[in-house]
Amino acid sequence: MPRKILFVTSEAYPLIKTGGLADISGSLPKALLDLGVDVRLIIPNYQAIKTTEEIYYKSTVRVNNIDANILETRLPGTQLLVWLVDCPEFFGFPGNPYVDEQGNAWGNSAERFSLFCRIAVEVAMNRGYLDWTPDIVHCNDWQSGLVPALLSLEANRPATVFTIHNLAYQGLFPKATWTSLNLPSRLWSSEGLEFNGMLSFIKGGLAYADRITTVSQTYAVEIQTAAFGYGLEGLLSYRKDDLTGIINGIDADQWNPETDPAISERFDILTLPKKQLNKMALQKQHALPVNNAVPVFVLISRLVEQKGIDLVLECLPEMLTLPLQFILLGKGEKSFEQQLSTFASRYPNKIAITLGYDEDLAHQLEAGADVFLMPSKFEPCGLNQLYSQRYGTVPIVRKTGGLADTVVDTLPETLGNKTATGFVFNQATSGSLMETIKRALIVYSQPEIWKQLQTNGMQKDYSWNNSAKEYMGLYEQL
Ligand code: ADP
Ligand code: GLC
Repeated sequence: MPRKILFVTSEAYPLIKTGGLADISGSLPKALLDLGVDVRLIIPNYQAIKTTEEIYYKSTVRVNNIDANILETRLPGTQLLVWLVDCPEFFGFPGNPYVDEQGNAWGNSAERFSLFCRIAVEVAMNRGYLDWTPDIVHCNDWQSGLVPALLSLEANRPATVFTIHNLAYQGLFPKATWTSLNLPSRLWSSEGLEFNGMLSFIKGGLAYADRITTVSQTYAVEIQTAAFGYGLEGLLSYRKDDLTGIINGIDADQWNPETDPAISERFDILTLPKKQLNKMALQKQHALPVNNAVPVFVLISRLVEQKGIDLVLECLPEMLTLPLQFILLGKGEKSFEQQLSTFASRYPNKIAITLGYDEDLAHQLEAGADVFLMPSKFEPCGLNQLYSQRYGTVPIVRKTGGLADTVVDTLPETLGNKTATGFVFNQATSGSLMETIKRALIVYSQPEIWKQLQTNGMQKDYSWNNSAKEYMGLYEQL
């Protein structure tokens, strides 16, 4: 049975986070550790990494004429061992893993992540002076895509798993970048890293990993179609026997309304009425009229096309006429930020917008809201609909990817068999979203039914209990 796993990722909560990948990289390895697996995480040592744990120097490894240090630490508050790839010339700058402080994509992303991948390969082959050889290297998204490709050229290599968290981000670079990276020329072919004449990091995972996973069953099917595949659908259907969907779990300690230190009133199913106090705190904090009868809708998201922010913007004028309040926390595309701010400044009694990234506020919004909006165009898994259900907040989602797999629409039969947990719509149009918002308002006015939706969601087990075992099963096949 495979006992040693090297988990390769570009972000991991609480060290550094821009989105759901960090949540997963911070929680899945911990769950595997609890199942008795020797997991180690490897991640770049960005300047923005936050930790209270000690950091030790382990070794220096030279690849492609660049020296990188390997530093060792633990994931804060856990026993999970973390190796930081330290190379200040690439990672020693403020900003996040993908953009600088001004929000511009790093000009040298390909160089940064190819160095990271090469070092991960040295560690995987036990050439990093760490005296440890993994049975399996588990890579995540394009930033680690070169690892399976480079390992495919090694004799006696560990097996590789590549998880697609989001196929929309592929790490595509011009041919000239390929040349400058000095990677083994055998990897350059249409069956390899080349994609329409460009270098594709993600193809390194899709073409060379022994197994591919993605983060929901529905997304595993969707990415084999032209509508979701970005031209990679052919390769993905060719590899369909090696491709599985495993739904993400949540960190049930971090996202627990009974113990959450970020919220003002803790609660569970039995003390659900206390959720109101969190709602009132939210209304006060956002200078909205404090009124428990008016439902609070929230949205927490990267403000990008994927998340259906345009649909929300189209709905806002009509939402303003309805008995509801809307609070949004997000950061992303400037045009979305501007349009949202304009609405908020015109209608401060109905809408509050926080532009930025705020982990505590995200918890407070989940705790205090009545409804969570997630009208995504596509959503490989999505985590906030899961957090919402745990916090008695009813999600409105579009039927796609992991949203389709984790939210049960409110219908007579799903109310009858107590499976309804939210509201689901099909068409990615503002009309369908608006109709669903109105449907939610009608149900909100029937407190007994609303309470049933809340408790149905709160009773679900979205922890890693099941999914971590599915990964174990997959590792065992290898
Ligand atoms: P994605 O990874 O596509 O962004 P997910 O739903 O998987 O979407 O995960 C998003 C994660 O990032 C959640 O934990 C969510 O709470 C968090 N998040 C997104 N935007 C913000 C923000 N502006 N402030 C705080 N947390 C945020
Ligand atoms: C991606 C996806 C999101 C998923 C997350 C973690 O960022 O957009 O749907 O939940 O990865 O797997």
